[in-house]
Amino acid sequence: MTLYPDLENKIVLVTGSGSGIGKAQALRFAAEKSQVLVNDIDPEAAKQTCAEANANGFSAIPVPADVSNSEDVDQMFNQIESELGEVQILVNNAGLVSPMLHFFEADETWWRRIIDVNLTGHFLCAHRAARPMARSGEGVIINTSSGGATRAHRSFTAYDAAKGGIEAFTRALALDLGPYGIRVNAVMPGSIDTSGLTPDERKLRGENIPMGRIGEPADMTGPTLFLASEQSSYISGDVIKVDGGMLAQQRSATVDIMPPDGFPTIDEI
Ligand SMILES: NC(=O)c1ccc[n+]([C@@H]2O[C@H](COP(=O)([O-])OP(=O)(O)OC[C@H]3O[C@@H](n4cnc5c(N)ncnc54)[C@H](O)[C@@H]3O)[C@@H](O)[C@H]2O)c1
Repeated sequence: MTLYPDLENKIVLVTGSGSGIGKAQALRFAAEKSQVLVNDIDPEAAKQTCAEANANGFSAIPVPADVSNSEDVDQMFNQIESELGEVQILVNNAGLVSPMLHFFEADETWWRRIIDVNLTGHFLCAHRAARPMARSGEGVIINTSSGGATRAHRSFTAYDAAKGGIEAFTRALALDLGPYGIRVNAVMPGSIDTSGLTPDERKLRGENIPMGRIGEPADMTGPTLFLASEQSSYISGDVIKVDGGMLAQQRSATVDIMPPDGFPTIDEI
């Protein structure tokens, strides 16, 4: 049984869905019987995601493209429109974090690439998707922020600036597109294990998250599908934090005045 029947047959484009969070989202939309377009800059990764969806009897088509390149984006949308129809739900997920450089190691090429993929990529896909959505009177755009939008990472000046831009873009776009029936929101992943951390690394990261564990790509899919579905019909311009409470805390658990290992045990409560 599907959880969101209104997502059935919807044409959904998830950028950067050849791996990580985007892949989990694409597979979840496919399981809701949406018609999923799997974008990635890596064509093999996009094919692999589709193969997994198709093996489970669901529909997913690879549409490789570099989201920071306007010609690529245009071609991708032309292909989707000629083969399937207009994109009804756009999940702007593609992002690039590396290389991470201290400000004194950074140069303009690095700055432009990180801003182009993360921020301009969101603009280009939204810009191409929005007109057909407006003509049909409905549509959903979901952007992908980061804790870095409001709390900085060391050596992430470009990435954090891009993510702060994505949150501002989300609000501004929600205002411009609201009258056309298009909702625009963002999801904000906390610390999600998409890079295959070792058990020790997972434990260390988890200790500093109020929920006591690192996030999994699947943790992102519920909030994303909710924002895509009619269940969130009056939510626009918002950012949903999916971070196990990470941004709610003042200090990391391991250095807090009252660390969790001093909490009452289950037998004591
Ligand atoms: N994993 C986390 O903890 C975390 C935290 C905060 C925000 N995010 C954000 O979530 C999103 C997904 O992150 P992830 O951890 O799954 O990353 P990931 O690296 O596992 O996946 C990103 C995917 O985007 C693709 N990609 C990169 N550049 C692209 C381009 N120019 N065009 C098209 N595709 C491109 C990559 O090939 C890759 O498959 C990103 O926007 C990231 O900034 C992740």
